[in-house]
Amino acid sequence: MSDLQQLILDRIRDVPDYPQAGVLFKDITPLLADPPAFAEVVNEFAGLHRVDKIVGIEARGFILAAPAAYKAGAGFVPVRKKGKLPSETLEASYDLEYGSATIEVHRDAFAPGDRVLIVDDVLATGGTACAAVELVRRAGADVVAIAVLMELASLKGRERLDGVELHSLVIV
Ligand code: PRP
Repeated sequence: MSDLQQLILDRIRDVPDYPQAGVLFKDITPLLADPPAFAEVVNEFAGLHRVDKIVGIEARGFILAAPAAYKAGAGFVPVRKKGKLPSETLEASYDLEYGSATIEVHRDAFAPGDRVLIVDDVLATGGTACAAVELVRRAGADVVAIAVLMELASLKGRERLDGVELHSLVIV
């Protein structure tokens, strides 16, 4: 295991039965509050690929994607839960680990052929990431890769990504 992986694992807190019984929630707030850990994670995302835009998925994806975009000299594009974006949107629905949801992106968020990295905190079932890939492509851009802080291997999200390159900083 690399030093970065150990650093990340040491700063993720497991919270049992949140947001509902039987779910073991991975709380990244200790990592975000630690300056060296936060900086290393952001730098890692920023250095993965040369891209035009970095997409962050609401809400925890925003926290990682926005500084990574700044660091990489790329634009930041929010993918938001339905009803939060003010202009014309594209939308995609998906099943979550708990419940279901619809996410949106602005129809004009990308220039044609933009190279895009999608960033989120956790890949669980892969439903969210899959929907985000669909949105970016329908908006006319090219998904270069998906990057997550943590992949929950038992939920097999990777298998739903249909060959899109996935970078998981830690796999648990
Ligand atoms: C969590 C997480 C990912 C998604 C992963 O977001 O931040 O976006 O679930 O799950 P999946 O791979 O099974 O789709 P959540 O919807 O809880 O939103 P939040 O970041 O606003 O808390």
